[in-house]
Amino acid sequence: MSYSLEQFKHFVAQTSDAPIGLEIEKAEGAFIHTKQGQSYVDFISGIAVSSLGHRHPAVVSAIKEQVDKHLHVMVYGEFVQDVQWNFAKELVELLPEPLEQVYLVNSGTEANEGALKLAKKSTDRTKLMAFHNSYHGDTHGSLSVTGRNVYRDPYLPLLPEVSFLHFNRIEDLSKIDTETAAVIVEPIQGEGGVIVAHLNWLKALRKRCTDVGAVLIFDEIQSGFARTGRFFAFEHYQVVPDILCLAKAMSGGMPMGAFVSSRERFKSFMYDPPLNHVTTFGGHPVSAAAALANLRVLKQGNYTARAKEIEKYARAILSGPGIVELRGMGAMLGLELRDRSLTQKVVESCFDKGILLGWTLHSNTLIRLAPPLTIPINLLVQTLESIKEAIEVAVNETVEKTVEHPLKSAYLKNDYNDV
Ligand SMILES: Cc1ncc(COP(=O)(O)O)c(C=O)c1O
Repeated sequence: MSYSLEQFKHFVAQTSDAPIGLEIEKAEGAFIHTKQGQSYVDFISGIAVSSLGHRHPAVVSAIKEQVDKHLHVMVYGEFVQDVQWNFAKELVELLPEPLEQVYLVNSGTEANEGALKLAKKSTDRTKLMAFHNSYHGDTHGSLSVTGRNVYRDPYLPLLPEVSFLHFNRIEDLSKIDTETAAVIVEPIQGEGGVIVAHLNWLKALRKRCTDVGAVLIFDEIQSGFARTGRFFAFEHYQVVPDILCLAKAMSGGMPMGAFVSSRERFKSFMYDPPLNHVTTFGGHPVSAAAALANLRVLKQGNYTARAKEIEKYARAILSGPGIVELRGMGAMLGLELRDRSLTQKVVESCFDKGILLGWTLHSNTLIRLAPPLTIPINLLVQTLESIKEAIEVAVNETVEKTVEHPLKSAYLKNDYNDV
């Protein structure tokens, strides 16, 4: 073990006993380079973050420009900072009514926390509804609406009055009633296994929420910013939420989250009492500058078309023995393989070939494919063909590997099939 890996394991708190442990030297475009001189094609984009690739020049120069002006100056919402309002304005210009005002935070889970509080405060109701298999983040509120017992159980009791419905099941929608403050949903469940909402179901969910006065929250933290082939996944459905939560790919590799809603609804954060929802660092000017540059590049380039092209190549190449299904939309794809051992072998052999693949938190037979939208087509095709070849080899392998692979990730070790 290298000295830096040893120090990392000793001083940096770990979330599993088997971190991947790549020692990062540099990351540029679609590649991550290690201190040991290895290069990896980043086929997960830091879990759907680096949609423009690593260190996009426009993002890097916006960050540098902002650093030369000012860093943090005041708790969110008090001072006028040009990068914040410019970003909010240009984001809102892309969104339909009633999504007209933006509250900036620091992360995805914080966006969901804010959205849940806003829904409760603006409706004066307390009941929350969410879906089995969902993932909304790891702080207490977001965990309370995350639909996986394996992650919730160690932290019980969580928020009271939360119920879980079945994703894509129309009959369950009648449980949403006039006491429901909010329903939170991912239009495409990411960590739950890249499960796409059915059109009729999402429309029925919208209608039910409207009928009973419940706030509909879309968590597009993973699916937003062109990844699915539209700027936001809800555009595929033409179903508009009351609150939209964003983060991840929003700020070109810098940390920031946001929730977007109507001016009217946001008023409930201003009164009874004033300042009832604040955050010191929310919309940090350096992150906001990065987000503005990132948004402008995404708007100018044809990245939604690029996401669709990525899906087209993936569907053309990834079929055959061992592959159960390729699901998802655009460049938010999940490759379901026959079994856990095959999945593990494929991920390990791709890693050895310099391809970084991902796992969803909730499945050990699903490989996540989320390449940067900027990946050159020849590199995309070459990588997809290498993945296909790794599957073919693994399917034909008869003898089980006896040696422990260095990529003994916790994602692959655990048995997640608890639902
Ligand atoms: C759909 C969804 N919501 C919320 C989160 C939490 O975001 P963060 O890790 O920034 O808190 C994630 C992270 O993977 C996510 O995929």
